[in-house]
Amino acid sequence: MGDDKCVLVIREFDPSKDLTSVEEVEKRCEVGPSGKLSLFTDLLGDPICRVRHSPAFLMLVAELSSTKEIVGMIRGCIKTVTCGKKLYRNGKSNHPTKPFPVYTKLAYILGLRVSPSHRRMGIGLKLVRGMEDWFVLNGAEYSYLATENDNKPSVKLFTDKCGYSKFRTPSILVNPVFAHQLPVSNRVTLIKLPQSDAELLYRRRFSTTEFFPRDIDSVLNNRLNIGTFLAVPRGGCYTQKSWPGSDKFLSDPPESWAVLSVWNSKDVFRLEVRGASRMTKALAKTTRIVDKLLPFFRLPSIPEVFRPFGLHFLYGLGGEGPRAAKFVNALCAHAHNLAKQGGCSVVATEVANLEPLKIGVPHWKSLSCDQDLWCIKRLGEDYSDGSVGDWTKSPPGLSIFVDPREF
Ligand SMILES: CC(C)(COP(=O)(O)OP(=O)(O)OC[C@H]1O[C@@H](n2cnc3c(N)ncnc32)[C@H](O)[C@@H]1OP(=O)(O)O)[C@@H](O)C(=O)NCCC(=O)NCCS
Repeated sequence: MGDDKCVLVIREFDPSKDLTSVEEVEKRCEVGPSGKLSLFTDLLGDPICRVRHSPAFLMLVAELSSTKEIVGMIRGCIKTVTCGKKLYRNGKSNHPTKPFPVYTKLAYILGLRVSPSHRRMGIGLKLVRGMEDWFVLNGAEYSYLATENDNKPSVKLFTDKCGYSKFRTPSILVNPVFAHQLPVSNRVTLIKLPQSDAELLYRRRFSTTEFFPRDIDSVLNNRLNIGTFLAVPRGGCYTQKSWPGSDKFLSDPPESWAVLSVWNSKDVFRLEVRGASRMTKALAKTTRIVDKLLPFFRLPSIPEVFRPFGLHFLYGLGGEGPRAAKFVNALCAHAHNLAKQGGCSVVATEVANLEPLKIGVPHWKSLSCDQDLWCIKRLGEDYSDGSVGDWTKSPPGLSIFVDPREF
């Protein structure tokens, strides 16, 4: 900063002394337009909770050297993901070609906050630059972030000042968890996959999907991962008892099937909707009471979102065949019931804008976000994706893989 008495230091977050002041800044930073309903995030006393499950992560704080006051922070992480695919020929002219993934080292920025009293002084920009230096030092080839399309300060900071471009606009689909159980279609059999089978299935079928994490095994083995579930036609040869493993399944799949995994975000952070009138809260409560008293009516009640609430995140959603979307729907009903058991208020997922299976995901429009804006930037000179070209210029595919560690 210009004033000599007020030099700004960008340094690594130190949990032993910064915890309280970082929480203070977090509390003061209301994400969302003021005067309307806004969403608060409670990080449950761990400011790095949303990056710590990635292979490499860092949190920086901006500190005024004169007062030692913390006025901003930023988190980032790096991992290897798919950025495109190549076709492989094994030399024999009539042999079919098979796509295989091209990986790149991708960095992700999240949780950028500057105290409202210190905005428009260049602190946000300095934090982003500090984080990008660490990305480059650690070999990241691209950096990206997700923000709301209407968050003008954030969009302008990244696109006007930091060289990011608008890249993808996936949809966040959120469904309430009702007080009643949802029925799972009786035309579908659900199978919980062993972790090794989930990994094999994902690697075989989804590794060429954009943003697929190469360390999918560490995602699936994480304690926050509740499980991977496969939906197949009832009465076919696949059941939980007779499950032959993903290898056999993929060599002889049914005409339609679908898969998804469930992640327990409730143990990472809690959300809270603030700014609702007493009337709205009372109305919501009434719907829940009625739903609880009369569960057989399956009334769509409004969940508890005006107090800190948890969510389950559905990821790795995919499938094949004409009934895949119906099977996704059955998987979502099962996931709803798991979230109810786990005391969550909502179930959320994020899928590509063009995702054909989106129609199978039940969600409330009022809770969802049709276009989450992902911005991206190419960081360095040497790219492992050479022949694929510049990822930032590539058109969107039908699907993306949204990593639950980054939601
Ligand atoms: C977004 C945020 C971090 C910006 O921090 P900041 O320290 O005020 O940003 P800077 O002073 O470094 O601004 C750099 C540039 O960003 C853009 N910018 C920042 N705030 C802006 C605003 N309110 N309106 C328009 N442009 C803005 C401008 O281009 C600005 O350059 P300029 O001042 O030369 O015009 C801050 O507003 C914030 O904490 N918001 C709430 C949390 C949030 O939305 N985080 C982003 C989630 S990804």
